[in-house]
Amino acid sequence: MPTHDLAVVAGDGIGPDVTVEALRSVRAAADRFGFGITTTDYDLGAERWLRDGVALDDASLEGLRRHDAILLGAVGDPRVPPGVLERGLVVALRVALRHAVNVRPVRLYPGVTSPVRDLTPERCDLVIIRENTEGLYAGGGSTVHRGTDEATAIQTSVTTTAATRACVGYAFRLARARRRRLTLCHKTNILVEAGALWSGIVEEIGHDHPEVAHDYVHADAMCQHLPLAPERFDVVVTDNLFGDIISDLGATLQGGLGVAASGNINPAGDTPSMFEPVHGSAPDIAGTGRANPVAAVLSAAMCLAGLGEREAALALEAAAASVLAELPVGPALGDTTAGVGRRIAERVRDVDPGAVVDPDASLMTALSAAAPRTRRGGGG
Ligand code: IPM
Ligand code: MG
Repeated sequence: MPTHDLAVVAGDGIGPDVTVEALRSVRAAADRFGFGITTTDYDLGAERWLRDGVALDDASLEGLRRHDAILLGAVGDPRVPPGVLERGLVVALRVALRHAVNVRPVRLYPGVTSPVRDLTPERCDLVIIRENTEGLYAGGGSTVHRGTDEATAIQTSVTTTAATRACVGYAFRLARARRRRLTLCHKTNILVEAGALWSGIVEEIGHDHPEVAHDYVHADAMCQHLPLAPERFDVVVTDNLFGDIISDLGATLQGGLGVAASGNINPAGDTPSMFEPVHGSAPDIAGTGRANPVAAVLSAAMCLAGLGEREAALALEAAAASVLAELPVGPALGDTTAGVGRRIAERVRDVDPGAVVDPDASLMTALSAAAPRTRRGGGG
């Protein structure tokens, strides 16, 4: 029996609440589809930092590298200064594990109400591919005359050919397995250096993928197009900060952060990919049972797809989407985190994997097809 070895960083706030439910549904899928799951918990996040001042230690990082994939809950805590865990743990892991790609699906599932009036599931099914290790997140910079009226901050943005190629290459492979359209989102009219590098690489790699049509949209215009005409897009590839911003807009379209899933992927496949809900740790509702576990479950489904378990991933998606359609509208979940998680896990056992989403049109199928072809990727 194939066994997938998962590292689990449940993290802070609602992170552990939703991660327990994601693992419950993964185990149900493993039982049904005949594979094994082993898990190892990593003590990283706010408590660890408060205890011994460590955001990410070398031993944990080396340990994490040895797993097939990583599930991350959420990190962040009001007792920890802003940025310490965001940069010191989440971004540090993305960079250390060379996760040049962050996959952020924007899919409105049937029965979910979008704040965008009249938006239908048929019109809202795109994927944002965000470069995940560079741009302004690379973090270089300095401040002179700090604390005075002359304080001046310089924050540099880094765009390397290697990471941009890795990201754009993955985006084209994903588009080829989907509706064969790719849109570069940038701000090439202002950020002329980075913009030219991105455009050049899209042209170069696009040349090898004549079957995929590609075009370009400025990041600010994207914020208009996304809510008004999301059907225009299939795969949107963009830089780190633009991706951070437009993916929150995308999350809103699809019914909020309770639904938004993501995967941090190393297209070379020589380190484990890491899957996490887009939402934060929401410390105010931790342990109250009010967190929606669907985003964590869908992230775990993406993880299974990347490990080559396409059928299991489709079943997880179908189960989560069908339970989602039964939840009350609006921010009040009307059900507990564990209640929703149990319903999903129950349904995974017998749901038709094509019940809600056509498997050929599901991101899970495209993720399996685009998965790195390595021992860890499992894509064959
Ligand atoms: C996200 C978050 C992160 C980011 C933070 C937590 C580092 O906003 O995953 O979108 O800025 O990338
Ligand atoms: Mg964000």
